[in-house]
Order: sequence, then structure tokens, then C-alpha cells
Amino acid sequence: RTVYVNGEYLPETEAKVSIFDRAFLMADGVYEVTSVLGGKLIDFDGHAKRLDRSLSELDMPSPMGRDELLEIHRELVRLNEIEDGLIYLQVTRGAPGDRDFVFPDPETTEPTVVLFTQSKPGLAESPAAKEGIRIISIEDQRWGRRDIKTVQLLYPSMGKMMAKKAGADDAWMVEDGAVTEGTSNNAYIVKGDTIVTRQLSTDILHGITRAAVLRFAREAQMKVEERPFTIEEAQGADEAFITSASAFVTPVVEIDGVALGGGTPGPLAARLREIYLDESR
Ligand code: PDD
Repeated sequence: RTVYVNGEYLPETEAKVSIFDRAFLMADGVYEVTSVLGGKLIDFDGHAKRLDRSLSELDMPSPMGRDELLEIHRELVRLNEIEDGLIYLQVTRGAPGDRDFVFPDPETTEPTVVLFTQSKPGLAESPAAKEGIRIISIEDQRWGRRDIKTVQLLYPSMGKMMAKKAGADDAWMVEDGAVTEGTSNNAYIVKGDTIVTRQLSTDILHGITRAAVLRFAREAQMKVEERPFTIEEAQGADEAFITSASAFVTPVVEIDGVALGGGTPGPLAARLREIYLDESR
């Protein structure tokens, strides 16, 4: 596989990053995941804009403009012959010579920019899309700026493991009695003809797929309520689903052992998935 590191395309075995990199020492970096379907990038502009926002919230300069970033994404898709898959992009505050809590001067410490591809044949035809996923609820123990897409993913990773150990597929995190989001996706329930999902704030990541799906839902005259909901309300909902760049729209069929809609995916989630994939490809 060919990867991109700081201006160079290299075989993955030759790519190197300093041990002093602040993402390695302090999780001082941000990332984006963009999906590729049939060789085409999905929602690239949304991801590029959110990257700039994450960087600016952390006082990091943007290493390059949107066009250059797009060119690198396209080149990696070409070099690695990606039909369906993901592109991972990470920008860190770079590698000053020492470990220090004070941010290094951006004039002297260059950001580290890394991109690589993951081939996932049939990404849009996953069994989860047809069968739905089972989720458990866990306490949200992440930091308070979840709107910044940082590489601090230890708690979400632990949450995913808690779900696997419980025989489920993923976890929804709960804070002050209400669902924030999934470990790596946004969370939704459907009540009658209304889609309910938590409103944007610093409590959740502003999903690029979320923005697109809510826009398509409104265009299709579906009702959308942006507000918090509890696990209890979700267990009594008609349907539930998640969205992310890698899951698109994926139905949820069980929450903490309670089956939704008889344990089979609901029609509204299926329709939204179809609309999203049709409109984005
Ligand atoms: N995760 N919420 C969290 C906590 C996430 O990590 C993600 C994405 C989302 C959905 O955002 P988007 O629709 O822009 O992908 C919501 C990516 C896919 C990941 O970490 O792999």
C-alpha cells in the first residue's frame, strides 16, 4: 500500500513519524475519515471543512488548502486502486524536540500530515445494513469537546470492546440521562414519522453524514426533531439507526436487550440509506 506522509507518497513500510510527535505523546492531533464508493469520494467537502474547524479550535494552522487535500485523496485512491473503502487523514501539531505541555511555536514546528487508504470491497453492502446492529448503553466518559475530531479515541475504543464483550455490535453513550452519540457514529430514533437526534453542541461530533442525511430527510418531507432522548425513549421507539462516513445509515434493531420493531430494520432507516447512497455516489 502507498501512503502519504508530509508531502511524499511512500510504501507503508518506509513511512516514518517522529517519536516526539505530539499526537503520539499527547493525542494532539485531529483526523477525518472519508469513504470511497466506486472510486468516488463521498462528502469530501464536508470533511475538508470540518478538518479546518477542528484545526482552528485547537489553534493549529491548516497545512494545506482544500484543492491540494483533494488531490492527495484522489492520488491515493488511484495509486492503491481503491474501488470501495476509506481514506484516513490525520494532522498533528508536529514533533518539537522535547515533550512539553506548552504548544510549540507553529513557525518552527511543522504539522505532521498522514493519509492512508483502507480497501473495503462491498462497503455499501455490509450485512449490518440488512440485518441491523445491536447496541448497549454505556456512560459517556469522554472529554467535553467532542465537536473537535481529535485522535483521543481510547474511551470510544473501550466502549466498542464493552459492546463486543456483551455480545453486541456497538455502544451508545449516555450523559445526564440522555444519549450523546455512538462510539464512532451519530445516534437517531424514529417515532411515527419523526426522526429524533441530539442537537449540535460541544457534546457530540457534528457528523458530515448527519448533516447530509437530515437535509435529505427534510427534502423528502420527513419530520426532524433535534433534541436529546433517553435510552428508555429509544427502547420504545419504532426504529433507530446510526450514521457515519463508514456506516452511512445503519439500522439499530436492539438496545440493551430490548428489540425494536420486532428485531428487524425499519422502513424509514432503509429509505434514508437508499436516498443517502443514491445522492452521494
Ligand atoms: N467516526 N460521532 C463520532 C464520535 C464519530 O467518531 C463519528 C465518525 C461520527 C460520524 O461522523 P461522520 O458522519 O462525519 O463520519 C459521529 C469515524 C467514521 C471514525 O472514527 O472512524
